[in-house]
Parts: sequence; structure tokens; C-alpha cells
Amino acid sequence: MRSHYCGEVDTGLLDSEVTLCGWVHRRRDHGGVIFIDLRDREGLIQVVFDPDNPETFQVAEQVRNEYVLEVRGKVRRRPEGTENPNLRTGEIEVLSQSIDVLNRAETPPFQLDDYQTVNEEHRLKYRYIDLRRPEMQTRLQMRSEITAHLRAFLHDKNFLDVDTPMLTRATPEGARDYLVPSRVHGGEFYALPQSPQLFKQLLMMSGIDRYYQFARCFRDEDLRADRQPEFTQLDLEMSFVEQEDVMALVEDMLREVFAQQLEVPLHDPFPRMTYAEAMERYGSDKPDLRIDLELVTVSDLMQNVDFKVFSGPAKDPYGRVAALRIPDGNKLTRKEIDVYTEFVGRYGAKGLAYIKCNDISQGRDGLQSPILKFLPDDTIEGIITRTQAESGDLIFFGADKASVVNESLGALRVKIGHDMGRVEYGWRPLWVVDFPMFEWDEKLKRWQALHHPFTAPSVDTPEELEAHHETCLSKAYDIVLNGAEIGGGSIRIHTPEMQAAALRVLGIDQQEAEEKFGFLLNALRYGCPPHGGLAIGIDRLVMLMTGSSSIRDVMAFPKTQTASCPLTSAPSSVSSAQLKELSIRVRTDKPSDK
Ligand code: AMO
Ligand code: AMP
Repeated sequence: MRSHYCGEVDTGLLDSEVTLCGWVHRRRDHGGVIFIDLRDREGLIQVVFDPDNPETFQVAEQVRNEYVLEVRGKVRRRPEGTENPNLRTGEIEVLSQSIDVLNRAETPPFQLDDYQTVNEEHRLKYRYIDLRRPEMQTRLQMRSEITAHLRAFLHDKNFLDVDTPMLTRATPEGARDYLVPSRVHGGEFYALPQSPQLFKQLLMMSGIDRYYQFARCFRDEDLRADRQPEFTQLDLEMSFVEQEDVMALVEDMLREVFAQQLEVPLHDPFPRMTYAEAMERYGSDKPDLRIDLELVTVSDLMQNVDFKVFSGPAKDPYGRVAALRIPDGNKLTRKEIDVYTEFVGRYGAKGLAYIKCNDISQGRDGLQSPILKFLPDDTIEGIITRTQAESGDLIFFGADKASVVNESLGALRVKIGHDMGRVEYGWRPLWVVDFPMFEWDEKLKRWQALHHPFTAPSVDTPEELEAHHETCLSKAYDIVLNGAEIGGGSIRIHTPEMQAAALRVLGIDQQEAEEKFGFLLNALRYGCPPHGGLAIGIDRLVMLMTGSSSIRDVMAFPKTQTASCPLTSAPSSVSSAQLKELSIRVRTDKPSDK
């Protein structure tokens, strides 16, 4: 139908005749002349309807926003003074010769320009209208371009695109599974994959050597701005490789896609940091390096202070007392400090002690703090030296279990970084390496895999792994960009003995291991190559690359924070006949948490 996209028409087409198809973005009547901004995927163009052509004029008078039109007309230069520099087609307009209303539209539930005042649920309910917004079109186009670049890169490097099943067994990635009941096997369930982890390992054992897939993953977990229950990974795996090989390939891939898509050169090589250093300096395993604030441990200085809030965690082997210096933080008001205290409270912190540094040269007298009276001179000196505090600064303190201090001060550092304009412009990729193999889960009272149970340890034998599991590091690596974890991977265990040892540490006995992963343990016995890989969270990557603040803005049909879809009303109840067929009876009383 069309000769050009609306957004493509430019001065090169002056005096040519074009046929355009699209939606009425806006219609304006201007003293006898009607202007319609016609919109399609590529942009907007102004179409002019002159009363001299009464046939088209009359039709144009009838059209309303979001009507679908086919317009034929001549491209001409806009009269001087009426150009629109904000529009790609702002120098020209189309004088309409004919107009066809291809479809009418009811008054839309919200105006495209007013989307900011419309709540997100409403926008998701009418997502097909929301997606017509130029910003959303641009994001989806960029997403498609980014995945095309990634695909081309991997194809070029001899990776095979292999599909793995959606109806499968649970793969442990740390979240709850989405289950699908089986009709044929009444009372039994498939699990939707949390990732294709086990299948990609099986593909290495199948001799595929290099695999990739844009894989849908399903995780029933609490949602946040950068998490969805259903999301896309660029999942890849390679045989006969070591950690360095996978990291080098992924770096090259990301550098290439940033260069192609954003014309941005990323660091070469990406900097690296151990997990321990990241936690020590940033309280996070995904530090945002654009923010220069850092945590400093002061536990040793607080061992004997007369303030239990500090001395307790300082003496606790699992505790931590840390300081966070805020340059120019002296200007923070009592109220602002209260807000930050409440903020860290959300991460479990019981308070947020602080010292204001009015004049460092005056020692104790130049400082101001409710806790000053508890701190002897040498402790104060130690704090000032270690934090490198200067007059005008403020020092915050966190004291608790190390995990609470890290989470709360880690989050505070990012928040204050943003609040005080301390976020550097640009891209700061980072590899985080040398993760612990296991972490102790205080609630469940057992060891958990920090990555997943198939990650190779950095020790050589199963005996060493079991003997030193508390301190053992793993061959796992995460890729972090501007404070977001955009990917993670590892070298995998490739012998049945090591895999069995790892499962034992996790408290999974042989019977349970056979039941859950027997197929994998079996496959390990029949010639498994050393292998490793990684998965990139595509939605997160695209979110960052498009400058979006929510993962939902780069997905066509995302779920809400409560994992529902306002458009289709999923999830929904089903008929009793369907349930019966699936051998399922639904409890009508509210299930308890037990
Ligand atoms: P991991 O669990 O780290 O690793 O996931 C890889 C990447 O996927 C993204 N991601 C998510 N994105 C949106 N919503 C979610 N709920 C969500 N969860 C994870 C993140 C994350 O870095 N099988 C391993 C990979 C491997 O070892 O090769 C895995 O799934 O960006
Ligand atoms: P309190 O003695 O409870 O009035 O606390 C004195 C100061 O210490 C206040 O500024 C509190 O916010 C702070 N504080 C209390 N508990 C902690 C903690 N666990 N970590 C850091 N600061 C704390």
C-alpha cells in the first residue's frame, strides 16, 4: 500500500508523490486548513488538507485520533517559519491529494502524549496503544537491532543456535519454579525452565562444542524494577575452554554491540574485581563504579568502644562495622539524615550513626555527632585517617551482621551517589570474579550454591571441595554494568565425582541427586568435555542501552509487579472440566504459609 514510511520522507523527495499509511497522531483545524500528523513505525509527518480539494477535505474533517489512514499526496517544503526542528520530517509536509480511511478508532483510553499521567497498569491493559508511542517503538527497534548484532557475532564465531525444551524438569537457579500440570501423567508436573542450564551442558556432552540461544526463562520470584517472571537470556556455552576464554569472548561481544549500536567504545579489557573486594569496598557484588563513594571497614577500631551497637558487631566474626564518607555531606540536614536512616532500615539496619566533620584541624572539637562521647581519641583519629575525611564531610556508620551492613550501606552509597549528583557519565563494565562456592543460609540452616550447583570450584579434587567448602572459591564470573548484573556464568563441573561432592555439600543426598539430576550425573559418566559458559540478561542489557528506568519498558508485553498481565488478565481461573482432566482440585480456603 505505502510508497514510504512517514518518518522516512525528507527533502530528497520534494515534489514527488508519496503514499503513506499510518495512524492519526493529532489533527488540527487552522482556519480552513486541516493538518494531520500521520504516524507510523518510523516517525511522524504533517499532512495538509486544503479546502480547494473538497473531497479529501471532508473526509479529513471526520477523522479522529488513532484512525488508520492511507494518504496520497505531494511532498513540499513547509512555508518559512513553520518548520519544526524537533521532527525528522520537520522541513517538509505532504499536500494531500487523496485520503482513505482504512479503519476508524474509538476515542483511545489515553492520549499517546499523556502517557506519563496514566498509571502503568492502564497502559499495560491497552499495551497495543501504549506501544504505538514513538519512545516505545524506538526501544523495541533497538532491542531487535541489539539481538541481531549479538546473533550475528555468535554465528560468526561458529556458535550453533539450538532450542531447548520449555516443558522440562526443574533447573535450580535459586527461584521458585512455574509448574505445568501434565494431563497424560495425572498428578505430575513439568517445570518451566529457570534457565537452559542443564540442557546446554548436555549439548556440550553431545559434542555441539559452541551453543547459543535466546532463551525464555521463568522464575517465580519477588519482582523488582529489573526483574520479570518471564525474561530472555542470551545463553551460551563452550567446550574445551577455561574461564579466560569465555570472558574474552563475552567482552568482545559486548564491546562490539556497544560500538555498533551506540558508537561507544567500552574499556578494553574490562576491569576485574574479586567478590571479596567488591563486598569490602562497595557492599555489593554488582558495584556501580560510576559512583566514587566507598565503604571502609572500621571494626578493628571499634572493638573496645563503650557503645555496644558498635563493639558487638566489631567482635562478632560475622559482624562488620563500616564507614561511608560523604564528601560535602556536612550540609545534610537532620531531616535528610532521618530519611537516609529510614532508607537503610528497609535493608534491616537498626540505625545510621554519623559524624559531621566541621573542622578536622580541631580534632574532636571540630566534630559533631551523637556518638562522639562513646569514641576515644585514637578511635576518632583512626576513623578520620582511614576514611580520609576532610572538613565539610560527613561519615555514616553501619554496624551489624556483615550481610546487613553490606546491603544497607551498599544501597545507601548508590542512593546518595544519585541524590548528590556523584554519578559519573558513561559506561563502567566490570567483571566480578572469585565468588565463594557456597554461602550459609541462616534461615534454612544449610549451605547454598552462590551461583548454581554445577559451577566448578577452584580446587582440584572432590576431597578438597568437601574439606574446605566454607572457604572454597568458584570459577564463576558475573558481568556488571553501571551497577546492574547483566550476566553471569561459570566453568562447570565435568566429572561425576566432583558433581556428587558439590551436591553433598548442599545437603542433597545420593537418592535426591539421582531423582533430580540423575540424567546429568549419568551424562557426566559418558565422556563430558570440560566446558563453561554464561548468560546475558537481554532485557536488562537493553534497558541499560536504551536508557530506560524499568525492564518493563523494553519488553513488549511485560507482567506487572504482581506477576499479572492486565491485557489478557492472566493468570486466570480455569474450568472445572479442565482441572478434572489435569487431575487437579483447587483449594478454596486460603492456603496457609506452611
Ligand atoms: P543467572 O541466574 O545469573 O545465570 O542469570 C543470568 C542473567 O539473567 C538475568 N536475569 C533476569 N532478568 C530479568 N528478570 C529476572 N527475573 C532475571 N533473573 C536473571 C540477569 C542475570 O545476570 N544458567 C545461568 C547462566 C550460566 O551459568 O551460564 C543463569 O541463569 O541479567
Ligand atoms: P541510639 O543509642 O540507639 O540512640 O543510637 C545512637 C546512634 O547510633 C543513632 O544515630 C542511631 O541511628 C545509630 N545506630 C543505632 N544502631 C545502629 C547500627 N546498628 N548501625 C549504625 N548506627 C546505628
